[in-house]
Amino acid sequence: MQATRSSAPAKVILFGEHFVVEGQPAIAAAISLRAHVTVEPADTDGILVYSKNLGLLEEYRFAERGAWSGKMLSIAIAAYTAMESLGRKSGVKVTVDSEIPPGSGMGSSAAVAVATTHATFRAFGEEPDLKEVSRIAFEAEKVVHGKPSGIDNTVATYGGVIAYRKGEGFIPLKAELNGVRLVLADSGVPRNTGEMVKRVLELKNTYPSVLEPLYHAAGRLVVEAARRLEEGDYESLGRLMNVNHGFLSAIGVSTLELEKLVYTARRAGALGSKLTGAGGGGFIVALVTAEKEKEVVEALRQLSPRIFSVEISSEGVRKE
Ligand code: MEV
Repeated sequence: MQATRSSAPAKVILFGEHFVVEGQPAIAAAISLRAHVTVEPADTDGILVYSKNLGLLEEYRFAERGAWSGKMLSIAIAAYTAMESLGRKSGVKVTVDSEIPPGSGMGSSAAVAVATTHATFRAFGEEPDLKEVSRIAFEAEKVVHGKPSGIDNTVATYGGVIAYRKGEGFIPLKAELNGVRLVLADSGVPRNTGEMVKRVLELKNTYPSVLEPLYHAAGRLVVEAARRLEEGDYESLGRLMNVNHGFLSAIGVSTLELEKLVYTARRAGALGSKLTGAGGGGFIVALVTAEKEKEVVEALRQLSPRIFSVEISSEGVRKE
């Protein structure tokens, strides 16, 4: 066994979050923020998980596998499942060093799970199979938020811009975003994906005849957006982001803080803006032209503790 380091990108959902959980398509892009993970042999009969950002060290002993719990459980499960699939098990230390803000809707847990799985395979001298990496990260994600759609681990594994439908997998889109950027602004309120997904499903199950047409519309919106994205029609994309935000407000995942950010971005000249990810807190994403970027960032700075202006990253998980 040897020490290895891998990294995987954050994602931003451009269209279709929540609706994707119930089988509608969604579009997500990998962005230029990454989670870095080192896996190395360690003198333990289990998995040590250390997070530099959280300043946390946790031990998951093999003998206690059935009773594992901890803040970084999904990371331990990713490493463990990778070892299991190789039929090899030995003490490891997993060190996480991430640029991706946790609790932001940017898929930080999936990026960490993907990078952990990739680095674990490599630590045992195996060339990682990307399909297997994505599958194992998905298993680890299930521990964190019960019913993930699979979009986060897919983007973190393959990078680029993808259209995704649960159960059907993904197709890469030919989208480059020339001359425009994505501005992400934090509402300052952390959100819990599992809890938000549960709430939305409860709403849908209570009023199916009301919500089903909205889910259908959200699916149609994604098809239209995919076409506009590949054509480079950014004005339409922005407008469709605004419509998508309205749908997300309708299913109850927006908040006053998110609304303020969304409307501030639009007023400052963004082509479009919406909450991104699970909502209830977390971030908004605004599509902005290079000329308007400064104005939009300045306006959002009055309300947001954290702003990232990012590009799409074509690279998925990679060794370092
Ligand atoms: C979370 O990033 C996106 C959701 O659609 C949940 C999921 O797809 O697993 C809210």
